Amino acid sequence: MEVKLKKKLISEKAIQKRIKELGKEITNDYEGKDLLILCILKGSIIFTADLVRNIKVPLTVDYLSAKNTRHNSLPDYLKDRDILIVEDIIDSGTTLEKIVKSISKKEPASLKICTLLYKKECVKNGIIPDYAGFYIGKEFVVGYGLDYNEQMRELPYIAIPEV
Ligand code: IMP
Ligand code: MG
Repeated sequence: MEVKLKKKLISEKAIQKRIKELGKEITNDYEGKDLLILCILKGSIIFTADLVRNIKVPLTVDYLSAKNTRHNSLPDYLKDRDILIVEDIIDSGTTLEKIVKSISKKEPASLKICTLLYKKECVKNGIIPDYAGFYIGKEFVVGYGLDYNEQMRELPYIAIPEV
């Protein structure tokens, strides 16, 4: 099924430029540390893949389903690790609030959030990312990992669909 696009919002070039900047910032902040990246499935896989290639400290990548983050289903090796959650988008903040609560119970050494997109006007619970790629409005977006009914994740740019 074809999804029509209303408007391109963020170009591939702008995304890649911003990821390089985020990579540098994260590299500086985690110098001398052994970073654990937690990629929130499924939307964040493309962002994570590009981001980790711009981070120049030793790191490991693990994947977490947003739907399955009760703390007793999380691995014990999160304890004492420097964790960076990588998310595609923060909308209401509900998903991340749950994830942060569960991971915190595992007592990591530190816990930060990196999101590609942040819908500042929509966040209800005070979740503020430590690293944010772009601030966007309330509109629903697709591409670069973000889906509309599981479609359009493969777009190299971010767009507003005709829905
Ligand atoms: P939240 O819990 O309201 O912050 O929503 C977070 C999740 O909803 C994200 O991880 C996405 O999977 C999905 N989501 C929120 N806004 C959008 C959007 O504009 N496009 C695609 N998915 C979205
Ligand atoms: Mg998601």
